[in-house]
Amino acid sequence: MLTDKRLVKKYNEAGPRYTSYPPATFFNEHFGNDDYINSVKLSNNERPESVSVYVHVPFCPQICHFCGCTTETGFSRPFLERYIDAVVKEIEFVSSKIDNSRKLTQVHWGGGTPNAISYKYIEKITNTLKDKFDFADNYEMAIECNPAHLELRHIELLKKFGFNRISIGIQDFRDDVLEAINRRPSKRPIEDIISKISDEGFRGTNIDLVYGLPLQTVESFRKTIERAIKLNTDRIVTFSYAHVPSVIPRQKVLDDIGFPSSDEKAQMYEESYQSLINSGYVSVGMDHYSKPDDEFAVALKEKKLHRNFQGYCTRETTGQVYGFGASSISQLDSAYSQNIKTTSEYIQSIEKNGLAVLRGYSLSKNEKIIRHIINSVMCNYYVDLEEVSEYFNIPLSEVKEIINFSESNFDDFISDKLLTIQKNIIKVNNRGRLFTRNISMRFDPLIEKKIGTYSKTI
Ligand SMILES: C[S@@+](CC[C@H](N)C(=O)[O-])C[C@H]1O[C@@H](n2cnc3c(N)ncnc32)[C@H](O)[C@@H]1O
Ligand code: SF4
Repeated sequence: MLTDKRLVKKYNEAGPRYTSYPPATFFNEHFGNDDYINSVKLSNNERPESVSVYVHVPFCPQICHFCGCTTETGFSRPFLERYIDAVVKEIEFVSSKIDNSRKLTQVHWGGGTPNAISYKYIEKITNTLKDKFDFADNYEMAIECNPAHLELRHIELLKKFGFNRISIGIQDFRDDVLEAINRRPSKRPIEDIISKISDEGFRGTNIDLVYGLPLQTVESFRKTIERAIKLNTDRIVTFSYAHVPSVIPRQKVLDDIGFPSSDEKAQMYEESYQSLINSGYVSVGMDHYSKPDDEFAVALKEKKLHRNFQGYCTRETTGQVYGFGASSISQLDSAYSQNIKTTSEYIQSIEKNGLAVLRGYSLSKNEKIIRHIINSVMCNYYVDLEEVSEYFNIPLSEVKEIINFSESNFDDFISDKLLTIQKNIIKVNNRGRLFTRNISMRFDPLIEKKIGTYSKTI
């Protein structure tokens, strides 16, 4: 058994998801346009050398009640055009500050629903990127797609524009679950979409599923997983539904329908984990699964898995991330910077200043070390404090001091058999995977500050 009801009850507390460190709740509005540009210039001499780009398209034809992403609906064509022009302008401005000998290795398009805008806009932005950046030969360019708006000919167009990865948001196959969350079902059978993606030569194809949604049962999610396995994609993500209506008011309506209990959620996690592993997938991080020959599984084996706001990536290909578009987050070695979230305000700011920074955070040296440790635990279920001391070129004693490390802080996890500590190596056991957020919190001195609202860890 991976999950144990007693442990779920014991550890199911509110905590950061650690998609960044410090978590986005620590970003502050003292950080503005000038700080961002200074950080961009600094990033030219920091690691990793390569460049990753994130493009945010904050538009959806219809908004799902469960969604935690920053997105809007009801946009007009002229407004969309102004948005695209603003993104192009932002790319032109920021790229002029980036050392052009650095290679672009990764582009990720997220949203919102990037595949629901006109494809001529997608082409316009990809052309700007190709013009302003030097693409590495083995670059990755991925796009998140909602199958309710995806035609087979769109997949051909994406290929033509240079995309080589597609992620499809399925969430659940059941129409009543989709209806409860205000989501349209796929336009075509998902099977046809996946086979077209494969025929066009895309790699690393992913599907997103969510457990813990209204009307889902352990039995129904089991069937969802069975159908997902049959699709035979390279990657499958099973997100735990994050319900935070105080932060995302659109989620409030779901309270009237109700949710599976945390025990049922834990069982959904457990069963999906077992089924996916039994059918040959490798568990990657908390909620991702990949085929054993997929780059994620290989990176995990080599302890080179990495994570950013866009999800998992490999240390080999990922670079510092430069975000474009409303609400996008740039993730540089020394700073995080987030753009204005409302599209109309973002457009106005870009038209006026070329930039639209809302808030950000400059990391101290110690925070970079803590980030490195938490990333390692979250991605690779493992951290070797001696390796950390070598990587940052500081004594081991200093690393331990920065994270307030003492084995006794982990006594409960050790006695619950969630992890082991030997010779400065902390290893999360299979049983402990569900609790990696709780484990990471023990390395985080900022957790005491309790800034912001977090979802439950399980
Ligand atoms: C931008 S959407 C993906 C693309 C497209 N908009 C779609 O819905 O298919 C990103 C993913 O985040 C996940 N997600 C959104 N809100 C969530 C929440 N509250 N809890 C857990 N996962 C969530 C969903 O699985 C979704 O597919
Ligand atoms: S889940 Fe996707 S389609 Fe639904 S509102 Fe969120 S971004 Fe839009």
